[in-house]
Amino acid sequence: MTDSGRRTPVVLDVDTGLDDACALLLAARHSGLDLKAVTCAGGNVGIDDVVRNTLTVLDAAGRPDVPIARGAAVPLIQPVRPARHVHGADGLGDLDWPRSTRPTDPRHAVELLRDVLRDAAATGELVTLIPLAPLTNIALLLRTYPEAAAGLREIVFMGGSAGVGNATASAEFNIWSDPEAAAIVLAAANDLGISVTMYGLDVFYDVVVTLEQARGLSGSPSAELACKLIEKRSERYQSDGGSIGDGGAVCAVIDPSGLTTERHPVRVELSGGWSRGRTIVDTRTASDQANDVQGPAPVIQVATAVDAKRYADLWLATVR
Ligand code: RIB
Ligand code: CA
Repeated sequence: MTDSGRRTPVVLDVDTGLDDACALLLAARHSGLDLKAVTCAGGNVGIDDVVRNTLTVLDAAGRPDVPIARGAAVPLIQPVRPARHVHGADGLGDLDWPRSTRPTDPRHAVELLRDVLRDAAATGELVTLIPLAPLTNIALLLRTYPEAAAGLREIVFMGGSAGVGNATASAEFNIWSDPEAAAIVLAAANDLGISVTMYGLDVFYDVVVTLEQARGLSGSPSAELACKLIEKRSERYQSDGGSIGDGGAVCAVIDPSGLTTERHPVRVELSGGWSRGRTIVDTRTASDQANDVQGPAPVIQVATAVDAKRYADLWLATVR
């Protein structure tokens, strides 16, 4: 909800997998958000699976009105490397959920983003962009249509880590999949004066819904899908519940006071070695940073802690 009490306009960029689905259900059903569009990128699974899964989830959420556009199938430079071991062969836990019959928006993701942001700039109802996938679409948008930034309130992205990675010891999956795109987004946002918040692995796994809580979700397609998503996440991690993952980034937009952030310079490692895709979060003193031999880096908000119960309760209350 914006300060004026109006719903917050948001756009999600997804590579729908199980936790993107948690985020989509929340964004589609929360009364404080105005979900303007969803754009798809290859990542967890191939772009065709991502598009199909995204349509499926928005149908379950009862939101056939939200346009969905297909975007980048592959990263800017390196080949896409799916994470089917996490999300299942089809990317949605192989649930065999009824598939959507509705078409995607005829525009490419970048053009849909451009048009939504142009409208936002014209009306003054600026959009919060929530990337939850490799940042390929966002990099292409900001480089192809930089003027579209006038329609952005801020970017809150799931990606990166101030600590260890998950795809590799150094790198988080979304950034590891397309490090060049991430570097472009940070640089372009810095140049265009766009506020950026990194919802990284430092908080990503903390918002957990228990199996008992999930099994209390019933009575609607959204609730039943939400339950199955948590059950699949629980199976995958052999635990008594599952994290809503990407869903936490949407919680942070709905209820920012549940997230603790610090402002730090952040760089993305692009070299081809073991640390490629690492987000280097510079926590040194201002003086040391000022004397950095490599010069300044984009300064963004980095999530350091989250009120996990608050966000889990927010998600449960919304998707049921
Ligand atoms: O590293 C976690 C991120 O990678 C999440 O967005 C998950 O959906 C995968 O895309
Ligand atoms: Ca994702």
